[in-house]
Amino acid sequence: MVRTLIAGNWKMNDAMAEVPQILSGLAADTRGADILICPPATLIAPLAEQARGTALAVGAQTCHGKDSGAHTGDLSATMLARAGASHVIVGHSERRADHGESDAIVAAQAAAARVAGLTPIICIGETLAERDSGQTLEVTARQLAGSLPDALDGGAFVVAYEPVWAIGTGRTPTPDQIGEVHGAIRVALAQRFGEAGEVAPVLYGGSMKPENASEILAIAHVNGGLIGGASLKARDFLAIYAAAAG
Ligand code: PGA
Repeated sequence: MVRTLIAGNWKMNDAMAEVPQILSGLAADTRGADILICPPATLIAPLAEQARGTALAVGAQTCHGKDSGAHTGDLSATMLARAGASHVIVGHSERRADHGESDAIVAAQAAAARVAGLTPIICIGETLAERDSGQTLEVTARQLAGSLPDALDGGAFVVAYEPVWAIGTGRTPTPDQIGEVHGAIRVALAQRFGEAGEVAPVLYGGSMKPENASEILAIAHVNGGLIGGASLKARDFLAIYAAAAG
């Protein structure tokens, strides 16, 4: 059984004012789907404090691949776990583009997350040029192979398929295009990680919103969403969660 996960990625935005509404809107029975918010690192501890005793989990947006050392400005997975995070996004396309994070760096971050007891959410996705030249399956398979460390075997992890051209643009792939990539990811995960790969949620991300959530969440092998812009408004985020949990 793959659990459904609705994960909000606040990026470099502060939506703390929306949290009381999000918490009061969460259904008491959350067996249908898990819910997570990944705020900027300075907000992890206050958000975890507010979310204590509720169904809302808190995550980070990246971590370093090492546990300590001379890495000015970075945070280790252990530090994030101590601040109250249970998950960490790694390999988001904005990190890959802005900070030059390669598949190998992402794999080290995911391994560090596992060691610290965090569930890594590993992001992959093709650019528009790659999609237009018919390389989507090849690119996502290569990113998947390179960004997931062997250390994930037997542990909890999440994969997010986020086409770069769909992030923050209002454009989404067709259901067939999403289903094709998600199906390929599921096969590859099961082949490489066995049971852990069969139950790892595979999220879709990129311009997911209340208007398209039900359709996207109904696609085979889509086990939830990684939501940017629409996670900043309680009403929108709760509507997407309701579509998943319902
Ligand atoms: P978006 O971002 O929902 O604003 O497109 C998704 C993401 O980058 O995770």
